[in-house]
Formats: sequence, C-alpha cells, structure tokens
Amino acid sequence: MGITFNQDRKQFHLSTKNTSYMMEVVIDRHLVHGYWGKRIHTPDLECFVDLYEVCSFSPNPEKSRKDISFDTMPREYPDYGRSDYQSPAFEVRGEDGSHLSVPVYKSHGIYKGKQLIDGLPSLYVWEGDAVETLEITLMDDLTGLRIILHYSVYEDYDVITRRVTFINDGKSVLQLLKALSCSVDFYQDQSFELMNLYGGWAKERHVSRIPIGHSTHIIDSKRGASSHEQNPFIALLRPDTTEFVGEVYAMNLIYSGSFMGEVSVSSYGGTRMQMGMNTIDFEWILAPGASFETPEVVMVYSHEGLNGMSKIFHNIYKNRLCRGQWQHKVRPILINNWEATYFDFDEQKIKTLIDESANLGIELIVLDDGWFGKRDSDRSGLGDWFVNREKLPSGLKALADYANEKGMDFGLWFEPEMVSPDSTLYRRHPDWCLHVPSRDRSEARNQLILDMGREDVRNYLFLAISKVLESAPIRYVKWDMNRNMTEVGSAVLEKNQQKETSHRYMLGLYDLLDKITKAFPEVLFESCSGGGGRFDPGMLYYMPQTWTSDDTDSFERLKIQWGTSMLYPPITMGAHVSEVPNHQVMRMTPLHTRAYVAMAANLGFELDLTKLSGEDKRAVKHHIERYKLIRETVQLGDFYRLMSPYENNGTAWMFLSKEKNQVVLFYYRHLAKPNDIEPKIKLSYLEPEKLYQLEDGRQLYGDTLMHFGLRLPSMAGDFDSVMVILDKVV
Ligand code: DGJ
Repeated sequence: MGITFNQDRKQFHLSTKNTSYMMEVVIDRHLVHGYWGKRIHTPDLECFVDLYEVCSFSPNPEKSRKDISFDTMPREYPDYGRSDYQSPAFEVRGEDGSHLSVPVYKSHGIYKGKQLIDGLPSLYVWEGDAVETLEITLMDDLTGLRIILHYSVYEDYDVITRRVTFINDGKSVLQLLKALSCSVDFYQDQSFELMNLYGGWAKERHVSRIPIGHSTHIIDSKRGASSHEQNPFIALLRPDTTEFVGEVYAMNLIYSGSFMGEVSVSSYGGTRMQMGMNTIDFEWILAPGASFETPEVVMVYSHEGLNGMSKIFHNIYKNRLCRGQWQHKVRPILINNWEATYFDFDEQKIKTLIDESANLGIELIVLDDGWFGKRDSDRSGLGDWFVNREKLPSGLKALADYANEKGMDFGLWFEPEMVSPDSTLYRRHPDWCLHVPSRDRSEARNQLILDMGREDVRNYLFLAISKVLESAPIRYVKWDMNRNMTEVGSAVLEKNQQKETSHRYMLGLYDLLDKITKAFPEVLFESCSGGGGRFDPGMLYYMPQTWTSDDTDSFERLKIQWGTSMLYPPITMGAHVSEVPNHQVMRMTPLHTRAYVAMAANLGFELDLTKLSGEDKRAVKHHIERYKLIRETVQLGDFYRLMSPYENNGTAWMFLSKEKNQVVLFYYRHLAKPNDIEPKIKLSYLEPEKLYQLEDGRQLYGDTLMHFGLRLPSMAGDFDSVMVILDKVV
C-alpha cells in the first residue's frame, strides 16, 4: 500500500484502496509511465513498456538504442522538441533562445504525509491520514533546470495528487513558457470518451461526453478565471461507463485562473491526458536560484462509474479541501435581496424582508449589491467599500442588530476584485487596475479589474473589508467577481514579466483570501462569479460554498446542479427559490418544485417574500420546516445521481445520511405528456436486508427499493416533482 520502489528494476508503484499508478526509469535516465487504473499486483516484468524499433519517422534520442523513441514510449512528464510529437507538459526558453530541455531521472524520495504549496490552495492532510508523497527529481544538466514531480497518495480516499516544482540551479536566466501540473500516457489504449463540464453565464457545468476518436481535444479557459464556459476538469470514460459501473479517469485542477486540459491520441494508439495552467497568458522568469510551483491536480480513478468518481471527489473535497469553522457545519437557510429588489432598496425595505423571513423560519439575511459607495446601478461605486447612508441611514450595524433581534444572522455582498471607473478609488488610483499603457481599457459591466498581484491593492482591500466586517455583526460574506480579464498587464511588473500578470493575480487573490478568511474565521464565505464562473476547488479551499449559477429557474437548475455534482458536493452549492415568471428564462414552475430543487443543496430564497400570497407563505414555511428535517442528510450525507436530466423526461437523485439511516429521494418530472405513466425509481447504495419506512408508514426492503424500485405518485402538469423521505427501521 502507499508507495513502493523496486530498486533493481527502478519501478514505482503507488497504490490507494482501489487504484494503482506505476512508473519506471528506463536505462537509468528516462521516466516512463507504466499504468494508471484499477489496483493490481505489481507486474513481474523487467520493463513495464515494450521497447521496439519502429519506423525512421520516430527519432531515437539515444544513439545506440534504436528501440528507444519518445514518439512511442509512454512518458511521465514529456518535454519539448526531442522526438515526442504530442504536446509537451512543459517548455522552457534558455538565454540562448533555445527551447530544449533534457530532463533525466536523478533521484527520488518518499515521505509520510504531504506538504502544502506555498501560496497555492491544495488538498491537505490531517493527523492519522494514510498519505504518502513521492518526489522524483529530473535534471537538465546543461541548463541547471531541476524539475520535481510530486505525487501524493491518499490511500483511504482513493485519490492521487500531482504537481510540479521548477528550480533554476543554473547560472543563466530561464523562462518557463508552459508548466502543466500533470500528464498521463495511456499505453496502447484509446477506447475512451471524453467528458467535460461546459456552458456559459447562467448555464454552467453542463455535461458533454464524446468519443475521442483520433483527434486532439482541448478543454480550457483563457479568461483569467476558471470560467462559466469550462470547469477545470476532464475525464476519460470507457464507452460503456454509466453512472454506476465502468471505468472513469478524472483530473480536476485546484486553480481558479486560466487552465487547460488536453487529450490526444497518438498514431501508435496511445492516449495522452494533460492538465494544468493555460499557456495563453503565461510566462515566468526563473532567475538563477528561483523556483516556480504549479497548481495541484486531483486525479481520481473509479471503476464504479460516474457516481463512484463523484463519491471520491465529494469525500475528499468535504474533508481535505474545504476548511474552517463552517467545513462540517450545516449551513443557514438564507434570504438574498438581489432578485427581490436589485439596486432598488432602502433600510425600510430590507427590514420588512427581515420581518417576513423571520416569520417563515429563515435564518440569515444577505444584503446583496448596492449597499456601498454611490451604487444605484452597475455603472458606479465598486471599490468604495463604505456604507451608502442615503439608502441605509442608520448604517449596517443597526440593520444587522435588527436582524439579530428577529433571530436572524446578517450577511453582506462584496465584489473586492473590481473597480468602477466612476468611483473614488479609481479616481485616486487609475493605475491599480489591469491595463496595458496607451491602450484602451475594455470595460465589462462598466467595471475594470484591480491588479491583485499588487501588494498595495491587496492591503487596501484587506483594510477596507476588515473595517466593514468589524463595524457590525456580519456572519456571512458573498464574494462576487463579475467579469473576465482583458488587457492583461500590470503597472508594477517589468516589461519582460507582463505575461506573469495573470498568474500573479491568482497568487495575490489567494493571499488576500487567506488573510481575510483567517482574520474572520467565524464568517461563512460564499464565492460567486456571476453565479458559477469560478466554481472550482481553488475557491473552495478558502470559501466552503459557491453560488452555483445566476440562473435560478428550477428546470434549468436540474442540469446545472447535476453537472456540478460530478465533482462538487451539494454542501458547496448555493441554491435559491426565486419568483415566477423566472427572471432569466421567464418560465413558470410550481413553488414546490422550485423548493425541491433548492432543497437538494444549500437552501436559500431570492424573491420578495412580502409579495407572496398567504397560501404561498404557508407553503414556504412548510418547505423550510421540511428542509430542516433533511438538512443534515443533504449537506453532510452522500449524494447519488439516479436519472439524468440530459437523457430523460425527468430527473432523480438521492441523499443518504452519514449514519445511513435517512434517505431522501427527489424526482422532478420535466414536461407533462398525455397517457403517460410515472417511472419507477430504483434507489441505490441502501442495505438490501434492511427495512426503510416511508412517511405514510409503508415499509420496504432495501433490495426492493434498489431492484424493484419505488412507484411515484401521479404528477400534475409540467415540472411537477416529489420529495420522498425514508427512514431505516432499526
Ligand atoms: C452577480 C451575482 O451572481 C448575483 O447573485 C448578484 O450578486 C449580482 N452579481 C450583483 O451585482
């Protein structure tokens, strides 16, 4: 178990509960990839790969060995320009202008545990964890470039992480042009489909699955954010893999900036899978003695289909990525005033919302955009983080105290990384934003992006935010970010460092998040980027939940929450009940369905409750009471997808409590059809011999529920839905 090394054969075997990962050093120099997949015994082989001479178009870097060609060998961390014609994992320019590196195996070390990465988010370890780390050092003697490949093996979690450190031990300046976190070559194996989570604003993380064929596929973001368009995730699946069975190989990057994942098939029938930072806005000067750390990639193999993959991601993210006082605490049911009022609110309006919410059992009021500076629309005010006394004459403290008196907590929205050209901050510091001198600054939503790589900017933000958080009992912060990067340049970097701006931004952002979240440990932070434009493990390291999408329509949300759940557990997803017609798509859906979709994550409300009819208010109160009955199961238990919205006229998913004694099933019908019969839903992961009791008193065995299925009540009209609670009979 863990990590073993066969000294004679120079073979590494990394193993978790169910996974093996193997490498080998060939002729004492070349690190080749051997295997990644279901856990196996170490094969008793002289060499994990077959070496043989192939055609003259596959060059041989070793003069005396015609059987060695990088064109045919599965490589562990491919370099550029020496007979490997698939994409390199890294590229370095020397002072002489050459782009070649010749990294050869030098040494390795194995240690218990795992180190954090300086300045970057990563999985961590806890006392008693069965975690080992392998560090393999490759060296290019000519340039002095030292490359350390880090592999950490989480045995019990079934996870392997990878990352890379580059160190310049030479005497000349090197320039990193590409620095991916990992690369895996599947030797003579190309029977895969590629899965990724794509979308756009208000339609994030939709599931795509296509055969890889004989092509190269790039899944990436060039936006300076992990983005709405693609999540930093790729997976290779066998064509017959389902939610429950079959092999999945997945990579998820712990990074919130531009990234790339690539899958390509070689003419020898091998598949290369890579993940790391995007090269688009990246170069890094590595002066003699300097080092560079790549972000970490989380690698998951499952032979139990997509639910098997998700279970592993959910488990490790809940326990070894998210941190802080809120990590394992149930999250409050909130009301957010954004869709209720947009910018059009005042103290009295918020107070009436508090009154109504308190009556219905809501626990937290979140005051969204518009409480600060001169901010009556999105045309001004960002950067001026002091209360707008015209709207809130008694200030934030009075409002928070009012909420507290009604038994509710108080939360606040910020968008710290941005500045409006029409703001005091911008007038004072026009050079604080990302820009390129003498070029126009493209605005988006009338705003520019502050250069988070600058220490003075971060200091200003830390002080400004701290002042607000200290001024009132604020228990929750929504950290928003509403545009992507353009004119990516920094006023404080040298000319030849301008392409470092984007990554320095991320390092600066992480630094600020670290400081703020540590200074206010009791505050629940929720990240947001126009909804889920930065729903990634990097942000989850600092803030344990994310506003899933600006699309609050319950039907659209089925696909969004389904896709999001591939990687991220429901406790990380904010989900709100909003009004109808829905503000994004104008769709009418029943209140109970809006509630049941939001109750499958961290429940919130985002509508003017004061305008609801008496009947709807009673229904809201009822749903809140019901949510409180299942909240622990939804947020702290396990989640399984049962029926996909992408393939059916209905969606089903279920939750199983941590103690495995409560089961909550949700079924959402899409469109009503004449002469239709509701499907029977087969549950999963129950104990076959145990009885489970429905709320009407009926008892059914676990095996019956899993194999015969559960009949659903008949539905009425489009978008009807049902929630079924079952308790294990003990
Ligand atoms: C985008 C967020 O996703 C919304 O929820 C809201 O906070 C607005 N920004 C406010 O400007």
